[in-house]
Amino acid sequence: MLPSGFQTARLNLRPIAPDDRDPIFDGYAQDAEVTRYLIWRPHRSREETAAYIAVCAETPPTIARTYMLTGRDGGIVRGGFDLRQPAPHRLEFGYVLARPFWGQGLMTEALTEVADWALRQDHVFRISAVCDIENIGSARVMEKAGLIREGMPRRLMIHPNVSDEPRDCFSYARVR
Ligand SMILES: CC(C)(COP(=O)(O)OP(=O)(O)OC[C@H]1O[C@@H](n2cnc3c(N)ncnc32)[C@H](O)[C@@H]1OP(=O)(O)O)[C@@H](O)C(=O)NCCC(=O)NCCS
Repeated sequence: MLPSGFQTARLNLRPIAPDDRDPIFDGYAQDAEVTRYLIWRPHRSREETAAYIAVCAETPPTIARTYMLTGRDGGIVRGGFDLRQPAPHRLEFGYVLARPFWGQGLMTEALTEVADWALRQDHVFRISAVCDIENIGSARVMEKAGLIREGMPRRLMIHPNVSDEPRDCFSYARVR
């Protein structure tokens, strides 16, 4: 079972909820710069954001969980963090931050906490993710959180805001 939340020095990660529709839409989901290297296109309506939240809510927390990043005492949604468990021994993640919060070390802080937690679990041996080879910021976040670049799987993911063709990615992991 994935935890219901995480806390860092500056952040609270709590489960996504229906009321997050407007903060997600207004904060980052329709922002073409934020979504450039993601697997989804910018949302064009609040209904699209509501549908995304519904899918997250339907997913059993044994398989995956989506958290909202807020300040320590709540407040405005700063971004989102997905944690998935494709097998009992390994976790995968994805993250996104609204643009006003970029460059303050926040995602490094969130990922470090999640990765530390993951590798403290008896049954978990690996936490990993991939990013587009041009997504310098995301690669750097993973490196700063202690993940190691394992390789460059070619033509792995379609990032539709960059190209309709599958893109080369960097693969990162931390293991124990
Ligand atoms: C990628 C993202 C999560 C980074 O979050 P962040 O909180 O701004 O990152 P941090 O402040 O923790 O930065 C960590 C390091 O990355 C660097 N970095 C962050 N964004 C960068 C960018 N766009 N270009 C170059 N370096 C960048 C920082 O300078 C820092 O390195 P340093 O300490 O050596 O200077 C954020 O830019 C984002 O949400 N992007 C859009 C969504 C996305 O691409 N998600 C990942 C999909 S794989």
